[in-house]
Amino acid sequence: MTSDFEYLLNNTKIIDQSGISLSLSNFIRSGLVDYAYLEDQSFPIDLSIGINPIGCPKSVRKYLKTREIDLTSYSEVTAINLRNKIAKFNGLNDGEVHVGPGISDLLHVTLLTFIDPGDEVLLPEISFPAYEILALLVRGVPKFIPFSKKMDMDYSQVAKSISPKTKVVVLCNPNNPTGKAMDVKKITKVIKDHPSVVFMIDEANIDFGGESLMKYAGKLPNLLILRSFSKGFGLAGLRIGYVAGPQEKVLAIERRQTPFSTTVISQKLAELVIGDKEFLEKSKAYCDKQRKYLERELTKMGYTFIPSDSNYLLVNVADKFPDSKTFINAINQFGANALDGGVFRSLNNDFVRISPRSHKLNKEFIKIVKSLTKK
Ligand SMILES: Cc1ncc(COP(=O)(O)O)c(C=O)c1O
Repeated sequence: MTSDFEYLLNNTKIIDQSGISLSLSNFIRSGLVDYAYLEDQSFPIDLSIGINPIGCPKSVRKYLKTREIDLTSYSEVTAINLRNKIAKFNGLNDGEVHVGPGISDLLHVTLLTFIDPGDEVLLPEISFPAYEILALLVRGVPKFIPFSKKMDMDYSQVAKSISPKTKVVVLCNPNNPTGKAMDVKKITKVIKDHPSVVFMIDEANIDFGGESLMKYAGKLPNLLILRSFSKGFGLAGLRIGYVAGPQEKVLAIERRQTPFSTTVISQKLAELVIGDKEFLEKSKAYCDKQRKYLERELTKMGYTFIPSDSNYLLVNVADKFPDSKTFINAINQFGANALDGGVFRSLNNDFVRISPRSHKLNKEFIKIVKSLTKK
């Protein structure tokens, strides 16, 4: 006998961006592959991935070299020591923080907590593809907030797009792939005006730019902030992050989290780095400098891009190449890579997304693009 969910997976038809009709299960599978960028090739000059260009704090390597870690025991199930440190770092109570294995998983568990089948999940038109996939996985109905012509969040459209069926709004600050930070004043007004809707703000990349909404965590009853150790601390392989917000909502999320989903090592290393503001400042300064370098060099070649506040740069390649795929195929021949804008909903094939790496790699990337760009 097939379950309702299996029936839904196999019988819901979705038209993807290339016009192909897929079953929901195929869409989720192909969507997850796009989202996780599971390439079978790797490129030495890879600007397609959003990782910290200076790596992670030195204290991590030192700890791993000098300490014996007991892996025979289970990890602390609610990561109590880490939660205390995260709470202190953000000026919260420890009941206002839930720790999980990265934002990708926390998005899933949080949507599962607040979405019943058929509820609407409102998402930015151009943003992190995982939101749509995860909304479908929890059997929600994704709806999209139209962006302005300048590819920015239109705050009046956020309020206008909320319907009586909307249970959750997911927003990204700063937005992936545009790199744009949110207008905190405008969005907090929308959050306050819609107390029955849960607002999930994904701040995975906030350490690279933009104003955080963390000061409202625990204060606004319908606001949840998702944070990661993957980006600012350069620990994407560790798989750890947290959600902060009002105690009763955080507890509801915790109840749905798979037990022991963060490890002894991930908890320990996150505890080690959480207070390292100096490292965060250093990696932000480096990333800013490198993004500006890429912007300057691309401008000299006649490329345009969406003005970015953080670690992503959405570059229009349409004046120089027939489309984004042709651009990517061309740079791939020389060992470089960028992310095809086509993986993002509502973005046509005019764009590629790049993210700053070390200055040496960025310089090599520019050299390759220069050699392929018609004057
Ligand atoms: C906006 C956004 N959210 C979440 C993630 C994934 O975060 P995590 O590594 O904590 O799962 C990324 C990674 O690229 C991201 O850009």
